Amino acid sequence: MNTIELSNLKRIFRAHIGVFRRSIKEVVAVEDISFEVQTGELFGLLGPNGAGKTTTVKMLTTLLIPSAGSARVAGFDVVRQANQVRKRIGFIFGGERGLYWRLSGDDNLRYFASLYGVDPIVSKKRIPYLMELVGLKGRGNERVGGYSRGMKQRLHVARTLLHDPDILFLDEPTIGLDPVGAREFRTVILNLQSEKKTILLTTHYMFEADALSDRIAIINKGKVIALDTPAGLKKHVSDLSVVEVETYGVPETVLGSLRALPYVDSLSVEEHEQRQMLLLQTARGAEAVPEVMSVLQGTRVGRVVVREPTLEDAYVRLVGGQV
Ligand SMILES: Nc1ncnc2c1ncn2[C@@H]1O[C@H](COP(=O)(O)OP(=O)(O)OP(=O)(O)O)[C@@H](O)[C@H]1O
Ligand SMILES: [Mg+2]
Repeated sequence: MNTIELSNLKRIFRAHIGVFRRSIKEVVAVEDISFEVQTGELFGLLGPNGAGKTTTVKMLTTLLIPSAGSARVAGFDVVRQANQVRKRIGFIFGGERGLYWRLSGDDNLRYFASLYGVDPIVSKKRIPYLMELVGLKGRGNERVGGYSRGMKQRLHVARTLLHDPDILFLDEPTIGLDPVGAREFRTVILNLQSEKKTILLTTHYMFEADALSDRIAIINKGKVIALDTPAGLKKHVSDLSVVEVETYGVPETVLGSLRALPYVDSLSVEEHEQRQMLLLQTARGAEAVPEVMSVLQGTRVGRVVVREPTLEDAYVRLVGGQV
């Protein structure tokens, strides 16, 4: 069964530009997106900044009206049956505010439960249950102002679960969390999965998408460019290995020579403080290393590693060709 269905969804924004000669500029945020999410599935939505992920999520959560196409959530049309949809969904957007910092965690949930019209008898039982589900058991009496960012984000999840929605939309829920906070948050997502929730997750963290998602859609410029399981997406780069070379002050000309090597499929450079990490995708694997090293002669080189491609490498290949 499909819980979320998008068919040819489109959204255009019209912005007024100019002060004297005012004109209207159209931004196509979502051009044409179709996919289906099955009940109980954790579906990842990946794509570069501005790809249209948040706009898509906002249409599915009835916060924005599509310009064309249609979408159904829990079997209800997101425009014509928006109220039915709202009763069955929960959503959080990364970095959002909307908790009362002077109140305790429990009091925040009591407040939102009454706002959402949850029966007090139900919420009395449900609040401690949810606090445990999101890893805040025993912290409910503390003021939210003293919570860490990760704890606040998990309280947001508890808040959005008060009316027991079956379908959750999490738009970059781990943005701004430190590695420990993000890991704790992923545990919460796994708890939600075992509760049989259907989850649509957007993230820029590839390992997170890889670890959590049943299937992933990669979108770019408002269109789906790939849709598969994490393993299926990695097959796009199964012919390649990745050679990682740590360098210090590598000149542009040397990077050019590396790119020009016939068997180097792509080269990306991660800049760190004084060092650069060169990531070469190549079908040759370890055999490429001697020649790469000879091109790098005269440059200070640190660690060299040959590894299997990750989801991130697949993403770079899929999106890279289209940016
Ligand atoms: N309210 C708006 N008015 C005008 N343009 C908008 C509006 N909201 C989004 N856009 C544009 O639509 C495009 C898609 O934006 P969207 O926020 O959906 O991308 P995203 O995939 O969520 O990106 P990110 O990864 O940065 O969150 C961008 O070009 C953005 O500038
Ligand atoms: Mg976004």
